[in-house]
Amino acid sequence: MCGIFGCILKDGDAAPVIHAALKRLEYRGYDSVGEATIHNGKLFIKKDQGKIDEVHKTRNLDDLPGNIGIGHTRWATHGAPLEVNAHPHIDCSGQIAVIHNGIIENFTQLKQELENRGHIFKSKTDTEVIAHLIERAFETNPSLSLADAVLETVRRLEGSYAIAVISTREPDKIVCARHESPLVVGVNDKAVYFASDIPAFLPLTNKAVMVEDGELVVLSQEGYGIKKIADSKVVTREPKVIAWAPEMAVKQGYPHFMIKEIHEQPDTLRNTLRLQEHYLDLMATFLDRAREVFLVACGTSYHACLASSYMFSKLAFLSTYPVIASEFVEQHGKSVNIDSTILTVSQSGETADTLAAVNAARQRAATVLGLTNVIGSTLTRVSRVYVGQQSGPEIGVAATKTFTSQLSVLAQLALRLAKKRGKVSQDEMDFIEEKLKQLPDTVDTIIRTQEEKVKQIAKKYKDAKVFFFLGRGISTATAYEGRLKLMEIAYVPAIAFPAGESKHGPISLVEPGFPVVFICAKDDTHKTLIGNIMEMKARGASIIAVIEDGDEEIKELADDYVEVPKDIPEILSPVPYVTPLQLLAYYMAIERGYNPDMPRNLAKSVTVK
Ligand code: F6R
Repeated sequence: MCGIFGCILKDGDAAPVIHAALKRLEYRGYDSVGEATIHNGKLFIKKDQGKIDEVHKTRNLDDLPGNIGIGHTRWATHGAPLEVNAHPHIDCSGQIAVIHNGIIENFTQLKQELENRGHIFKSKTDTEVIAHLIERAFETNPSLSLADAVLETVRRLEGSYAIAVISTREPDKIVCARHESPLVVGVNDKAVYFASDIPAFLPLTNKAVMVEDGELVVLSQEGYGIKKIADSKVVTREPKVIAWAPEMAVKQGYPHFMIKEIHEQPDTLRNTLRLQEHYLDLMATFLDRAREVFLVACGTSYHACLASSYMFSKLAFLSTYPVIASEFVEQHGKSVNIDSTILTVSQSGETADTLAAVNAARQRAATVLGLTNVIGSTLTRVSRVYVGQQSGPEIGVAATKTFTSQLSVLAQLALRLAKKRGKVSQDEMDFIEEKLKQLPDTVDTIIRTQEEKVKQIAKKYKDAKVFFFLGRGISTATAYEGRLKLMEIAYVPAIAFPAGESKHGPISLVEPGFPVVFICAKDDTHKTLIGNIMEMKARGASIIAVIEDGDEEIKELADDYVEVPKDIPEILSPVPYVTPLQLLAYYMAIERGYNPDMPRNLAKSVTVK
């Protein structure tokens, strides 16, 4: 996720306006920043790694000349956060500058094709191919307009993009295009703007035109023109007045970042399907070779590890050891060795306990693999191979969208390993891959259809003194995560166990009205889980069940239930089954009068070095 902005002013310099707008977009990305303007037929660019204020201090982002320009604040997906990888990117002739938010899936093939034709690439980004493709379009047909060259280019792109292009060939225009990444145009009588989000231009205008997927927009002093990318058909769309206060706008109308990020999950899950397969394959090779595999992380990321231990076992027949990072050195520090592989999961890539475990493992020559949301974090620097989970910055302290992204990436890794090992049939593999592709829509359905129900459940149980969360098999990880969310956001003491373990002690806590949340995925554990529900019910517990749509057997037993769509493969089930639990934690916090974005005693690690 990155922030993009640009403008054409009737009067004055664009650069300070772009700088101020990028500051308002910093929540979308903050590892590098860049601007490009055009003045007297010349292109001017400033960019560097670092936060906007840091870069401004050394580079002065405000003194680029010209009334037209584009700017970008980056959250790295391809290529480390270095100056050379910061946007804008230019073509070989230095006449075309491009900024981009999204992921170009076929960039390796396109890059190869362009390199074969003599184009020289400077960065490791997927974006740079766009600048060279536009240049190539002009090489083939010099009389093309900038809009048509961009049109030809985007028709070749696979993946997601919101791009903006300026060129000295037509120095008075900005051409933008969108597919599966946000893009919005703002207008007033002094200027025309575009941005990835309305907050970028809200202090300048509240008149916005939403650009839809598959559309190209040409901005000029006269305003904006939209056409369809597929058939060049002109689209007419009037601006709408946006009634948001600036503070609401940053949260896109949501009252808190946590609920915004829960709702973002269909999009972030879509992004996890655009991984660089090469790195997943490489990781699968390391896992395949390893004598022993530790899955090491803290908190929510540890729960992703726990879930993935079931994925690796069930799909790839690989036994792994999930370990809480702060225990790793005590538990395995002496035995870990050159034949060990440590798969480390950390949203921030900077968690001290996780890095301490990694250091201990590296000292003993073990192989470290990393899964993180922050490219450029310490974890990416110390890992033999790393994969970015591509969830964009998570501002809410409670991990939500990053958890489901981690699960999706780990499931893809397990599938690759299974393929390599020949452990699953083609049919099963195809089924899981198909369901993986549908996960974004599955989560979207859950949010749309179950959120209101969860709100009511939160109202009913808001005064509960303690909660139980129980699941079996892979749903144990889901139960642990549901419990952590409720505790950290709503301050309700909560206990989670594999359901089978609950009768070995914890059940003695249960008395009439005691709320017990059961994660009832329809897998091999379902029957036994019903037995566990009966045990709790017999002691007067109030049963709150997360069930598969139409699971009548459990509906009969439950006091309250929420439903998840049918036919979810076992290894993917934590993603949809955790979504109602995230909502439950959020609404419990609201009911109890707490701010879910500011849990006491916790702060997020967002260091980007
Ligand atoms: C829970 C939460 C924490 C983190 C943990 C690990 O909502 O945010 O439990 O999951 O601190 O952080 P990372 O993944 O950055 O290593």
